[in-house]
Amino acid sequence: MRITEMEFVEGFIRVTEDGFKKGWHERNGGNFSYRIKPEDVTAIRSELKPSSHFTPIGVSVPNLGGEYFLVTGSGKFMRNVSLCPEDNIAIVYIDEKGENYSIVWGLEKGGTPTSEFPTHLMNHSIKKELTKGKYRVIYHSHPVNIIALTFVLPLEDKVFTRALWEMMTECPVIFPDGVGVVPWMVPGGRDIAIATGKLMKKYDVAIWAHHGIFCAGEDFDNTFGLMDTVEKSAEICVKVLAMGGKRQTIPVQGFRDLAKDFNIDLAEEFLD
Ligand code: 13P
Ligand code: ZN
Repeated sequence: MRITEMEFVEGFIRVTEDGFKKGWHERNGGNFSYRIKPEDVTAIRSELKPSSHFTPIGVSVPNLGGEYFLVTGSGKFMRNVSLCPEDNIAIVYIDEKGENYSIVWGLEKGGTPTSEFPTHLMNHSIKKELTKGKYRVIYHSHPVNIIALTFVLPLEDKVFTRALWEMMTECPVIFPDGVGVVPWMVPGGRDIAIATGKLMKKYDVAIWAHHGIFCAGEDFDNTFGLMDTVEKSAEICVKVLAMGGKRQTIPVQGFRDLAKDFNIDLAEEFLD
């Protein structure tokens, strides 16, 4: 089967299109990666071109050694992915040590995986371990409202979690662990990858101050849906602040009742 006709590639491309339509991906903003299932690697193996050219990842991720990832290219525009996947995305192989990668398909006109590949792989590594292999998707975007909030709210996990939970009743059900906040840092390297990874041990959402957001999830629907929910909640929050701020909200006991009825574990540290 052709690589671009594989279900996981079509699902990946659908997210890049939907994310662009949402306004989350100006120019080359944002990036996206998927840890490919072994049976899918087997199905496309004859189309992959093993290469002896390896590039250091910049971080060490031993538990990802031997894995294959589908990932957007650095400097490539999300809106162009569906028009020509071969030029804008790549399949990369991670060497057995988990320290170097090689491109085995895609980026036909040249290029490299996203500059945020260290953060993507660090997050994949942590989530693979914590979820026993269930999580396969890491998604980075630049949504307007969540970025706007990072100029106004204190850059604290608790403040952002409570603000977002309070804006829509179902938010605590969708991200019961809350969200983490990374203070402003230079993007594209090892330091921001390590800072984000620390938060991903606890949350599925890491907000990068004055920059954007990273979400982790088990599949495309859940990861896109998580990004969409967080950003919608942020939009409501921006509107509430613009209208002069909250006059009433969901009571703390309301969150506890919700957690009980929906059978979720709400992080109590965000409720006091
Ligand atoms: P890339 O084009 O390298 O993926 O960078 C976009 C981005 O959003 C950096 O944070
Ligand atoms: Zn970015």
